[in-house]
Amino acid sequence: MIEQLLQPINQFLLCQTPVAWVDEAKKSENLPVVLLDHLVCELKAAQSAMYLIRKYAVDKDSGDALLAWLKPFEDFTYRKQGDWKALADHEKLTKSMIPKSGAPYSQDLIDKMVLLIKEELHHFYQVLEIMEEYGIAYESVGSSRYARGMLRHVRTYEPAALIDKLICGAYIEARSCERFAVLAPHVDKRLNDFYVSL
Ligand SMILES: [Fe+2]
Repeated sequence: MIEQLLQPINQFLLCQTPVAWVDEAKKSENLPVVLLDHLVCELKAAQSAMYLIRKYAVDKDSGDALLAWLKPFEDFTYRKQGDWKALADHEKLTKSMIPKSGAPYSQDLIDKMVLLIKEELHHFYQVLEIMEEYGIAYESVGSSRYARGMLRHVRTYEPAALIDKLICGAYIEARSCERFAVLAPHVDKRLNDFYVSL
């Protein structure tokens, strides 16, 4: 079943995660950094989706509402402010998004990206719950160079820039999926269930 689900992802990615990565990631002493990096990646996914809506799809008021939506999550992650349990109340967007006129794919981007942000914020909260269960305190971790390296190749003119950003997002999502699948057999049941669900 999982193999079947992964088949198109592996085809798209062309290469597999190196065994050396799995060997490091499965060490129990590396669990905190794996979870902390995962946590921040969930926020970054939400932020990237928000960026796409703000840049391509909505007017300023709607853009500001999006910024306010993510702010408690950013405050927690980058400024160590707020109680993580309160973030559960912020997973929903209350204001409706007004599409910018003259942009042909506004509504489509809004519909897809708002759902995506909700999902990523929910994942963010799920990682925090797991960290609590494992007694891992939040601390900031440096980001990997991988996303930045890919984004350097994004073309600088539209609509190519939007297309390239979406392709980069697809690679990042596919790779995370493939990675959780290779790591899942090496972790305990709680984490295995979570990784398989992702
Ligand atoms: Fe996610």
